[in-house]
Amino acid sequence: MAKTKNAKRGLSVRSTSITGKTGLAKQKNLKPEHTRQIIRRFHILQKNKHTILTRLGISAASVEDQNYDSIRKEGLYQTEFKNFKVPAKYSDNEVYRIDSGLTKSDLTRVLARIDSEIEQRGGIDVYQSASTQGQNGKRGGDSSKKLVEWLRLDGYQAKLQNVNALEIGCLSPNNVISIAGIFSSVCRIDLNSQDPAIEQQDFMQRPIPTSEAEKFNLISCSLVINFVPSHKERGDMLVRMTKFLKKPKNGSLSSLFLVLPLPCISNSRYFDNDRLLEIMSALGFVQTYSYEAKKVAYWLFDWNGKTSKNAKFPKKELHSGSQRNNFCITL
Ligand SMILES: C[S@@+](CC[C@H](N)C(=O)[O-])C[C@H]1O[C@@H](n2cnc3c(N)ncnc32)[C@H](O)[C@@H]1O
Repeated sequence: MAKTKNAKRGLSVRSTSITGKTGLAKQKNLKPEHTRQIIRRFHILQKNKHTILTRLGISAASVEDQNYDSIRKEGLYQTEFKNFKVPAKYSDNEVYRIDSGLTKSDLTRVLARIDSEIEQRGGIDVYQSASTQGQNGKRGGDSSKKLVEWLRLDGYQAKLQNVNALEIGCLSPNNVISIAGIFSSVCRIDLNSQDPAIEQQDFMQRPIPTSEAEKFNLISCSLVINFVPSHKERGDMLVRMTKFLKKPKNGSLSSLFLVLPLPCISNSRYFDNDRLLEIMSALGFVQTYSYEAKKVAYWLFDWNGKTSKNAKFPKKELHSGSQRNNFCITL
């Protein structure tokens, strides 16, 4: 099992606040850098876990998978899970390399360590809590403010009669999208609901609407696609969204609000803004507004209802450079 120590220094935080099982979810005011560390670490763990589960032939979307259950019962898994201790400093976190040379036992061992770390860090609730803090006003705010700002511009005003919205990856029922008074209803879903007004649901498992009445005038998908572990599933998610949008007719609203971390388009080896727009165009989306803030990028797209069935956008290197990230969306 190849593993090295994270070489990054200077990111250390008070270890006591992150290693307890219940600690973080209850903490109200994490420092922004600490919040970012938690979010970043969970993204890394989720991504590695997804790669391992895929290699082991386990459905990453279903934690109920029987194969996953039987691996968790194996002695090797249990010993590794129990013995793993989360390092006191983030700078000492393990960096896993899930390369093709790993055997099933190696993969099981790493999976156990990742699961153990997730649990010791307080589980997905802690990640959610950090994400909620990350979006709280003092930290740059709820991204749906930008959506509402755009919808209030002239081009959209006339389209906003009796319109509804689906917010995928919702952290709060008090986001501007819900309280601006624009939408007659907002359906809020999240993989891990933090509020009774948010339905706990994986968008990828949400039943496909069978009638226009079950569809939405607008889908908001802010900082969710980057959370999805593989480039293929990210593409699948975009395709799936088209099945939830009302067919645009007589200038009615049928739009997608998308937000991604800026480095996804500014510093990826495999992705950039042009590539995103090509993919979106193949799915029938026309950009109406976009905005790049310091850390995130926002887009508003109108859907024309014409999704190409045969569009192919494989993973290919667009920009070289060792400092780039590997974010990608493929169709
Ligand atoms: C980084 S948070 C972003 C939350 C918020 N939309 C924002 O802009 O700050 C990502 C959220 O997306 C949710 N999420 C990821 N994949 C999802 C899926 N397939 N279905 C529903 N929610 C999902 C996660 O549970 C998490 O709460």
